[in-house]
Amino acid sequence: MSVTALSPDSRRRPPVGRLSPTARKAAVILHVISSVSWLALMLCLLTLGTAGLTTRDAETLRSAYRAMQLLGGVLILPLSLLTLVSGLILSLGTPWGLFRFRWISTKFWLTLAAAAASLFAFTARLNEAAHVVAQHPTGPISAMNLGFIRYNLVIIPAVALIVYTSNVVLSVVKPWGRRTSSPRKGVQPT
Ligand code: HEM
Repeated sequence: MSVTALSPDSRRRPPVGRLSPTARKAAVILHVISSVSWLALMLCLLTLGTAGLTTRDAETLRSAYRAMQLLGGVLILPLSLLTLVSGLILSLGTPWGLFRFRWISTKFWLTLAAAAASLFAFTARLNEAAHVVAQHPTGPISAMNLGFIRYNLVIIPAVALIVYTSNVVLSVVKPWGRRTSSPRKGVQPT
């Protein structure tokens, strides 16, 4: 039986298509920072949306909706894309895979739906609210002018917060084992 000698270099090199240990650590850091920042952004937007819904002061309402549009307009797109892309890199560049474990495929579909809802539905509502307050730069703004937007600006970030918090729990607990049947069920890739 012949034994093939491995050079020190080939032993250190990760398999083709897999991240090196350093690249994987960098991707995890990027992933955790972007996804937790996205969660924190929704917490800020929920606080401002709740202030807009409950206040009787028109100035507070104007400031809240202007700040919401500013924060959402600048941060939703980069944070949602960074979270999704870094999650995809970690899934496809490591033995985790994208559809081998239920906790990862669940996170993937939840994040994809949340990113689409944030980018299209939520951003549109933020722009509508900012447009209404721009049309009423002084004096009171009646609830009629804003309609259901005031509730949307609370409901959407509240739902997003629940989804992202579930994603953090899924990431740490890593439940359910593998999707495909395997004799090594429950084994965690390293
Ligand atoms: C809001 C969305 C997301 C949040 C809050 C989130 C959060 C996290 C956190 C906190 C970790 C670190 C867990 C640990 O080291 O124990 C993690 C790891 C991971 N995430 Fe996400 N994630 C999100 C979206 C995604 C998506 C969309 C994917 C896949 C497409 C994904 C794939 C992964 C993978 C594969 C790991 C394990 C990395 C490793 O150990 O090498 N995540 N995620």
